[in-house]
Amino acid sequence: MSEDVWREGDALVLKRVGEPPLLLRLDRGPIRLGDAGLIDLTSLLGSPPGGSIDWLGTQYRALRPSLSDLFATMTRGAQIITPKDGARILSLASIAPGDRIGEAGSGSGALTIALAFAVGPSGMVLSFDRRAEAMRLAKANVERAGLGPRVRWVEGDVVKSGWPEEHLDAIVLDLPEPWAALAPSYRAVRTGAWMVAYTPTYNQLERTVRTMREIGLDEVQALEVIERALHVGEGGTRPSFDMLGHTGFLSAGRRVD
Ligand SMILES: C[S@@+](CC[C@H](N)C(=O)[O-])C[C@H]1O[C@@H](n2cnc3c(N)ncnc32)[C@H](O)[C@@H]1O
Repeated sequence: MSEDVWREGDALVLKRVGEPPLLLRLDRGPIRLGDAGLIDLTSLLGSPPGGSIDWLGTQYRALRPSLSDLFATMTRGAQIITPKDGARILSLASIAPGDRIGEAGSGSGALTIALAFAVGPSGMVLSFDRRAEAMRLAKANVERAGLGPRVRWVEGDVVKSGWPEEHLDAIVLDLPEPWAALAPSYRAVRTGAWMVAYTPTYNQLERTVRTMREIGLDEVQALEVIERALHVGEGGTRPSFDMLGHTGFLSAGRRVD
């Protein structure tokens, strides 16, 4: 295995205990850190992640971004997939390193980031959106996350054009009308692949599941993920008062010819 060291162009987070992550791209020479001034990370190049760097007299750890760092620092446009749903989508779609995954639509790129993270450097995400503005935002978020080389972008309507590739390992749909994209998606996945849809309302879910059955998907299933954070204090552990309410429903089915 090659040594894990910092290289130019890598995404990096600066982290101090108790403070939020600062996401940066590692370049040679001074780089601007928002309104906070300039920072020079050149000395990190060639060293392993986890080392310290001094900035304005304070020590920061330079770390590879975790998935939660990437979600926390992304710019949001369209309604994004939350980590609770994103994680379940990865397991429903059975996404593994090296996979080639289709995704529509790109939106703000939150799910694209989770998919690109999961497929690893040898995998590929083919991400579709019919709105140029959404695609620009998704692309900017994915590039900032250092995952750009793993994603291929297609601007267009996936229902009208279908997918430009075949034998994809899975397809994930987060569109207002996922049922309309199911038949073209069926043709674009390999036998044994899963198709997963995310829908905010029961009406959308019903129509999606009905279409999954009609086109002959196997093991069709529907579910909702409910997450409740806990406040942990010695002798006073209880559910948090702020609960993430409804986000969306997940449905999935498998192509078995
Ligand atoms: C809710 S957003 C997706 C959010 C994204 N999953 C995320 O986590 O950031 C839905 C996106 O689907 C796109 N879209 C809707 N219908 C489409 C279609 N038929 N083909 C391609 N993109 C479509 C919209 O333009 C929109 O950007």
